[in-house]
Amino acid sequence: MAEQKATNVHWHEGDITREHRQKLLGHRGATIWFTGLSGSGKSTVAVELEGVLHERGVLAYRLDGDNVRMGINKNLGFSAEDRAENIRRIGEVAKLFADSGVVALSSFISPYVADRDAVRELHENAGMDFIEVFVDCALEAAEARDPKGLYKKARAGEIKNFTGIDDPYEAPAKPEIHLHSDQQSLDEEVEVILAELTRRGVISA
Ligand code: ADX
Repeated sequence: MAEQKATNVHWHEGDITREHRQKLLGHRGATIWFTGLSGSGKSTVAVELEGVLHERGVLAYRLDGDNVRMGINKNLGFSAEDRAENIRRIGEVAKLFADSGVVALSSFISPYVADRDAVRELHENAGMDFIEVFVDCALEAAEARDPKGLYKKARAGEIKNFTGIDDPYEAPAKPEIHLHSDQQSLDEEVEVILAELTRRGVISA
């Protein structure tokens, strides 16, 4: 994990709190953390959920691996070290969004348990909701979909360290939500997440 480099820095409190923002928006902020193989459907579920939340007047915002890697994380690759830094930064960004009152929908392979757990701890230490959603999908199914043609390239040796092929994916042991995207419908998946958000009181029924 990153060390604190800057010295002589002090946290500056404002007057408007998380509760004020919650009152303004009519719902709580939270981070929904989708993890799973490339092509498992993380972004598809996030896009659908974002639409449903929007319809219901809930402010949500997607943070997506491919998109973020073209911006704030454009200097990171796919070594274990770079993936850890990718997740650390996005964990911090998601926490800022959630603190602002937004439901952050974060879709990253995030293959390592330790990196995901660090983001969980970051949220829980701040009293914020962190909902890990394991988008479980058999490698064969993700590879058959191959929406970006990347598995084909990885099998041909044109991409090295590709998750599921020659790089590991550590499945969550106790995710808050376990989806099976190769068996469930998109509607079913969204319903399960909405039910959890309602159960926690992040959104109202
Ligand atoms: S993570 O492992 O650091 O969480 P992230 O979700 O940001 O990964 O990015 C994954 C996306 O990058 C994949 O969906 C795919 O489009 C692309 N990609 C390119 N190279 C690789 C690779 N070696 N392993 C996994 N994904 C890759």
